[in-house]
Amino acid sequence: MFSTWLNCLRIILLLIHLIHYTEAKRHLRWECFDCNIGPQFSDKMKCSVGGTRNSVLNVEINLQEELDAIKTYVKISTRFKSTSPYRKFFDITFDGCRVISDMVQGTMVSNMFNAVVRSSNQPRKCPIKKGLIYYHNISIEDALPMFVPSSHLFIQVDFFSKRQSYLNVTLRGEILDK
Ligand SMILES: *[C@@H]1O[C@H](CO)[C@@H](O)[C@H](O)[C@H]1NC(C)=O
Ligand SMILES: *[C@@H]1O[C@H](CO)[C@@H](O)[C@H](O)[C@H]1NC(C)=O
Repeated sequence: MFSTWLNCLRIILLLIHLIHYTEAKRHLRWECFDCNIGPQFSDKMKCSVGGTRNSVLNVEINLQEELDAIKTYVKISTRFKSTSPYRKFFDITFDGCRVISDMVQGTMVSNMFNAVVRSSNQPRKCPIKKGLIYYHNISIEDALPMFVPSSHLFIQVDFFSKRQSYLNVTLRGEILDK
């Protein structure tokens, strides 16, 4: 009888621990944010880190050429010590035009996407017209999946229109346990 209670208690404690674990918010600190856009696509692109904790990203692009295709490649690499090399954690290629128009809500990708476009004038369908596109205060801390370990991060995002590379973005930062 006593041992059954003890087992029950163990399970309850484990559940509390798990719930607590998934709700534990982590901090992200960005150290470096670089954007390289092909000169025929934009005369001006600004990428910067902001916020009091260096946790938000700001982007402004003056698009000079209409985009009718956005092939996107994302690669996330991690390392646990600043002295060791980055290793690929995962990578993914997707059709950016489909993501901006038919995003299924409630998924990991949609949480991430919503965090990026919250304070932006991101168009919701392709082709993307010429003009100024901005993303302010991008904060992905709350959308960061738990399976991404607390570590140093290196994120590379490459965009292609048809076969042509038009934008490369690199980000370096650190995920910190609070
Ligand atoms: C993006 O990076 C690739 C590979 O390093 C390079 O070939 C390409 O020219 C770059 N594109 C831009 C727009 O800088
Ligand atoms: C971005 O965050 C800063 C600092 O918290 C705030 O002053 C500013 O109004 C925000 N901008 C937008 C567009 O949300």
